Amino acid sequence: MPIDIFYFLSCVLFPLFVLFFFNFLRHKQQSNNHKRKLPPGEMGFPFIGETMKFFDAQRRNKLYEEFVHPRITKHGKIFKTRIIGSPTVIVNGAEANKFLLSNEFKLVKSSWPASSVHLMGKDSIMEKDGERHRSLRGVIATSLGYAGLERLVPKLCNFVQLYLSKNWRGRDEISLYRSTKVLTFNIVFECLLGINVEPGMVDTFERVLEGVFSMGIRFPGSKFWRAMKAREEIGKMIMKVVREKRKEIEEGKLKRVEDRMLMSKLVYGMIQGEITEKEIIDNVVLLVFAAHDTTSFAVAMTFKMLAQHHDCYGKVLQEHVDIMRNKRCGESLNVDDIKKMKYTWQVARESMRLFPPIFGSFRKAITDIEYEGFTIPKGWKMLWTTYGTHYNEEYFKDPMSFNPSRFEEGMPQYAYVPFGGGPRVCVGYQLAKLNILILVHYVVTQYDWFLIDPNETVSMDPLPFPSLGMPIRISPKHV
Ligand code: HEM
Repeated sequence: MPIDIFYFLSCVLFPLFVLFFFNFLRHKQQSNNHKRKLPPGEMGFPFIGETMKFFDAQRRNKLYEEFVHPRITKHGKIFKTRIIGSPTVIVNGAEANKFLLSNEFKLVKSSWPASSVHLMGKDSIMEKDGERHRSLRGVIATSLGYAGLERLVPKLCNFVQLYLSKNWRGRDEISLYRSTKVLTFNIVFECLLGINVEPGMVDTFERVLEGVFSMGIRFPGSKFWRAMKAREEIGKMIMKVVREKRKEIEEGKLKRVEDRMLMSKLVYGMIQGEITEKEIIDNVVLLVFAAHDTTSFAVAMTFKMLAQHHDCYGKVLQEHVDIMRNKRCGESLNVDDIKKMKYTWQVARESMRLFPPIFGSFRKAITDIEYEGFTIPKGWKMLWTTYGTHYNEEYFKDPMSFNPSRFEEGMPQYAYVPFGGGPRVCVGYQLAKLNILILVHYVVTQYDWFLIDPNETVSMDPLPFPSLGMPIRISPKHV
């Protein structure tokens, strides 16, 4: 008899209980969904949602025109979709940028694809939250802030001049994008971190970067697999540098000039127990990744705009000739000279408005978020965009025209966001600015140049790049 009761309980009552329980949960979920108002928009097919449309538009650099803008027209500035397996809300406009970017750690946290996290490393600041993010970022920012970079101006000038004379002199054609990538890589390593660049290092890093947004398939020969192998090599290489530096510091043999370089600061932090070795390695990889394609694309687009707008080029050239006039032969630029490059910086900013090096970035809701009368459920992804404000006439009059002087006037906060905003605003802003301005200075004063293919298009993978690498014809100026 007791066996019968047990049999009855396990075969009839228990399954019934499970059925009721899940039914109850489903109803509760449905009634919650009725109570909360999700943003408008279509979720597409189950699981893949609108991923294919998103990637297809992205590949052709039409993400804004063909994916985001038509949905803004249909649903408004905030809409939902499903991309890369996640329900996602795309927000556009200065208010939305401000809301999302300034609520980092409170309502949202940054959310990168698994392949990026794996290759950058879990200990880079991009994966850190709250206090740990603040303190690690603080160490990096001491070398990248204005005060740290002031010392770097003469160094960067020598570096750029040497680079041009070694790599541009004697040639009549250059891939401007490729050349700037190599230059930026060397600047981050040698001028910022204080690490010598060995032959082959750029290629190994680029193999890592190629896998950062890949599918994350660990199959021998796949992009991600190659990237992982390259990442292991880089990890070992940086670890060796860290250990050598530690030894030099502990034995009091560190050269004075190296004392203030970022790598030395990080190693000092490690000796004092504030930073781990893995945090140093992961953040070095992040800095290279964050600087590499972004700065090179910004430089390429600045030159493209200068080539297409002769009046602007004339004004830029005049600005740099005036700066040179007050310099002795061979004298390096200083911070005051950089401040005089006001119009050049307007040209670069306007180029980054029309061609932002970063489309936007993903966040994840860490709680249910109420915004503009909608609920964005916990766990959903959110994407803020640069284009949503940069191409909007609410913020920029005649937005598709190139007009550097518009930057003489102020603009609403979070309308111009090529460098993001809030606690994760680009930490390399000042370095990127110096890199662009100093390179423009030496190229326009030392070379005549023109675009070989003025109609060259921009592709995306997933960051934008000039599809042919922006070849330019160059000839040294005879002064
Ligand atoms: C024109 C060049 C650059 C552009 C347009 C750019 C843009 C951005 C943007 C939009 C973000 C924020 C991403 C987000 O909100 O998720 C960011 C973050 C970051 N950038 Fe840049 N960047 C540039 C150059 C650099 C350089 C030269 C470095 C360093 C050497 C750098 C280092 C970083 C780092 C480390 C972060 C992450 C900050 C954090 O999570 O706290 N960037 N950048």
